[in-house]
Amino acid sequence: MKVSVSVLSATDRILCIKKLNRTNLDYFHIDAMDGKFVNNYQMPVKEILEISKYTKKPLDIHLMVENPLKYIDKLIELPIEYITFHIELAQDIEELINECKNKGYKVGLAIKPDTSIKRLKPYLKLIDLILIMSVEPGFGGQKFLESTYDKIIEIKELLQKNNVENILLEVDGGINNSNISKLKELGIDIAVSGSYIINHQEFQKQIDTLR
Ligand code: DX5
Ligand code: ZN
Repeated sequence: MKVSVSVLSATDRILCIKKLNRTNLDYFHIDAMDGKFVNNYQMPVKEILEISKYTKKPLDIHLMVENPLKYIDKLIELPIEYITFHIELAQDIEELINECKNKGYKVGLAIKPDTSIKRLKPYLKLIDLILIMSVEPGFGGQKFLESTYDKIIEIKELLQKNNVENILLEVDGGINNSNISKLKELGIDIAVSGSYIINHQEFQKQIDTLR
């Protein structure tokens, strides 16, 4: 299982990134919010470009925005591992996925806690990753929703039925040492963790407790 660290809640994101560069994290999880899709405005393109001058690991970009292409078009030069946007968008999802693929990205679809997993079904053959939100998107430091466990099981079944077990499962929100064992048992591929790591002095020690 890989660990993707979110710097959303850091007071000084660049300082936090420099410190994280000395750990064995796998990805930097970049949370972009446009104040429309979620009620918070964080990490505009300009800031993502700025902080990516410091990140020494690939980026795992989580777009909580109404218009993902507006962001993606401007991030083209960055070392991006995954671009993820939300299945709840009122846009042509297939077209968005194809646009990202044409630009050479691996694509993820994120799903909010209350969204039916049926909505993922039409896109399973097209995507590389599913990001399961274990909190309502918008803010770091929220409590992990226990309903996530069942959602993972259901999504795993859906992938199995559709012969797409190669799709990676990423879980995002409220992950810490009390829920990570169960998540690993359920076989998730990437754990996103923010405040559990960066609100402590010793980042590497915190990451070790998740691995
Ligand atoms: C929430 C974000 C998460 C969050 C993770 O909207 O998508 O990535 O920052 O941070 P923690 O681990 O603090 O919940
Ligand atoms: Zn996120």
